[in-house]
Amino acid sequence: MSGDPAVQAGRAPRPRRTAPAFSEMKRRGEPIVVVTAYDHPTARIADEAGVDMLLVGDSVGTVVLGYDSTLPVTMQDMLHHTRAVTRARPAALVIGDMPFMSYQVSVEQAVRNAGRFVQEGGAGAIKLEGGERVAETVRRIVEIGIPVMGHLGLTPQSVLAFGGHKVQARGEADQERLMREAKMLEQCGCFSLVLEGIPARLGAEVSRELAIPTIGIGAGPGCDGQVLVTHDLLGLYLGHTPKFVRRYAALADEMRSAFERFASDVRARRFPGEQESY
Ligand code: KIV
Repeated sequence: MSGDPAVQAGRAPRPRRTAPAFSEMKRRGEPIVVVTAYDHPTARIADEAGVDMLLVGDSVGTVVLGYDSTLPVTMQDMLHHTRAVTRARPAALVIGDMPFMSYQVSVEQAVRNAGRFVQEGGAGAIKLEGGERVAETVRRIVEIGIPVMGHLGLTPQSVLAFGGHKVQARGEADQERLMREAKMLEQCGCFSLVLEGIPARLGAEVSRELAIPTIGIGAGPGCDGQVLVTHDLLGLYLGHTPKFVRRYAALADEMRSAFERFASDVRARRFPGEQESY
């Protein structure tokens, strides 16, 4: 029997998405769909829905683990969640997000940890935040054969330096720097670039200048693809929801209602019934 979950479910298997294929999608003008996933069922469901990339984001820290920021997230956390996602054997490309302090100390540390995402996590690519300061790191990771997604703009691991989650690159000098760093990351071999929390006009300009696809989150409609944190788009996150989020479901309300109805049935001795008993 096939081990492919799509075949097991009686659906035609989708071709596996690979990092180089995304520049082709950009050339064809096909928008790229990315969501975050941190667990096996979400990875399966999002993959069945046909998303192109599953990002095991360090946003797991805020939306799943209950931290106030992504800074406390460790390599151990990330590998644990990456493995849960890759066990779903999705056709979508799985990207492991390098957590704070897993690539900043040295190029060697970064290469080792990028390798762990592939060897131990089964990821098909990694993502890291920053521009010029990570250029050499990106070059080395790409050199050893691991596709790298860049991330510029409102990079959450710099939240302390930014003084909060604020839109970045509003001024001319910062916009020029972001454009320069985007081109630098492309030259260093990134296969794609996340643009987060920047003016829409800048998102569109960077997207026009690069051959690799840009994936926007709060970066306007001119990006080549869009990513949302799954818990935001499903209405499953109870904290602050940024302006750039569109909610496609209200799962927190659904879940609360289901728990209330279960509690009520148990308390009224309506559960289990005959059909739920042996
Ligand atoms: O960690 C994450 O989910 C991310 C996306 C918001 C791009 O970095």
